[in-house]
Amino acid sequence: MAGQGVFKDLLDGDVFKYYVDGAWTPTTSGKSVGIVNPSTLKPLFKISACTQDEVNKCVDSCKAAQKLWAKVPLWKRAEHLHKLAAIMKDQKITIADCLVKEVAKCMKDAMVEVVRSGDLIDYTAEEGIRILSEGKFLTSDPFPGNERNKYCLASKIPLGVVLAIPPFNYPVNLAVSKIGPALIAGNSVLLKPPTQGAVATLHMVHCIHMAGFPKGLVNAITGKGSEIGDYTTTHPGINCISFTGGDTGIAISKKAGMIPLQMELGGKDTCLVLEDADLELAATHVVKGGYSYSGQRCTAVKVVCVMESVADELVKKINEKIKKLTVGMPEKDCDITPVISETSANFIQGLVEDAKEKGAKLHQEWKREGNLIWPVLIDKVLPDMRIAWEEPFGPVLPIMRIKSVEEGIHHCNANNFALQGCVFTKNIDKAIMISDAMESGTIQINAAPARGPDHFPFQGLRDSGIGSQGIINSINMMCKTKSIVINLPGPSYSMG
Ligand code: G3H
Repeated sequence: MAGQGVFKDLLDGDVFKYYVDGAWTPTTSGKSVGIVNPSTLKPLFKISACTQDEVNKCVDSCKAAQKLWAKVPLWKRAEHLHKLAAIMKDQKITIADCLVKEVAKCMKDAMVEVVRSGDLIDYTAEEGIRILSEGKFLTSDPFPGNERNKYCLASKIPLGVVLAIPPFNYPVNLAVSKIGPALIAGNSVLLKPPTQGAVATLHMVHCIHMAGFPKGLVNAITGKGSEIGDYTTTHPGINCISFTGGDTGIAISKKAGMIPLQMELGGKDTCLVLEDADLELAATHVVKGGYSYSGQRCTAVKVVCVMESVADELVKKINEKIKKLTVGMPEKDCDITPVISETSANFIQGLVEDAKEKGAKLHQEWKREGNLIWPVLIDKVLPDMRIAWEEPFGPVLPIMRIKSVEEGIHHCNANNFALQGCVFTKNIDKAIMISDAMESGTIQINAAPARGPDHFPFQGLRDSGIGSQGIINSINMMCKTKSIVINLPGPSYSMG
């Protein structure tokens, strides 16, 4: 399979090379990591199993390139980013094709991921110029005292080397959402793609190569977590980590030390449906939010808490929409496609079995072929069921029937994963008061959770992460403030 529809420069035989100092380079380990096609369960690609020495080589290369890049004018940095965006859009079919095969994303969503990434880079370039060209001038107020004889010139300077670790579900988009802000702010980037999704990400890196960025500004390392995982995340040459993924992020945070962290971890996004909600609208969003990309989004609707009096009607509407979802292979552009791995499919099955054993009602028959799971709505879920709290990351959605709004808010707030939530009601006052009470990073009113638009703030609470994302916040987060203080002998010129 390797070699078909992929950039040939990236290959050493049938193994994808890693990228260091502006060159695609074969690993000296002689070893590779296999990528399995989630749809066929057959081997698909091989990526380099890089060594710790190769991590060092990448970090050294990043450090050297960053020193020069920090001196490049903002408009020139932006020019490079615009070029990258244009190349990526041009190469969208090649990159999307990798996503279809590697992470079983349907073709139309894969294309959207690439185009959205190009748009994100363009916006980052523009926003970066505005944010970074502004500094602050402060006059002094002594604490304590009376003399006002100091002036402060504060400006934003880069952090250094940013380690970017995107997840399998958006390997390209969540790579560029880290790389774009890092580069415009004058940093260099060491990219560690997820194993599943690595080849799509390496193709994006090749677009960076074609855009003519200075050598070493972006390096990409692949390999086994057991060999280079901790070694990379605790490397003294890394000055910031931007990670999206699961529980590994918590372990990374604990070991990372004194560097800025941006962690987007799981989400058990609660959807609250009130008695006065537009149920047709709510059902549309629940199905889109719960089942798109087979539920494998951190912002997917992960539990619906609906007022008992309208629950039957909402469930009926959701079921009608589930019936219309197409199930099958990503190449056929189906709505529901195989989940990422057998481990993941088994985990989802375990959650469903647990709920069923404890008395939940499945509205659709459980059906699974390999990693392909047919969509299921699990009704009458109670707090003693695992699925009330755990993230399936699959096309199965629990419904909890609640007697009061407070019960729904309580369920939302008792959860460890507080990324997003949503509330459906026609009463805007209530919507705002409930949003205020729901302790999650973002609450959507009358729409399903979503990260975008990509310049909005995006931050989870509790175990869902630390450090705010979104283009604007990411640019600011990937800088530190440098102050130059002018000290005068006195507040004004002495006239003798
Ligand atoms: O899976 C995590 C992503 O950040 C979700 O992004 O809301 O655009 O699907 P999305």
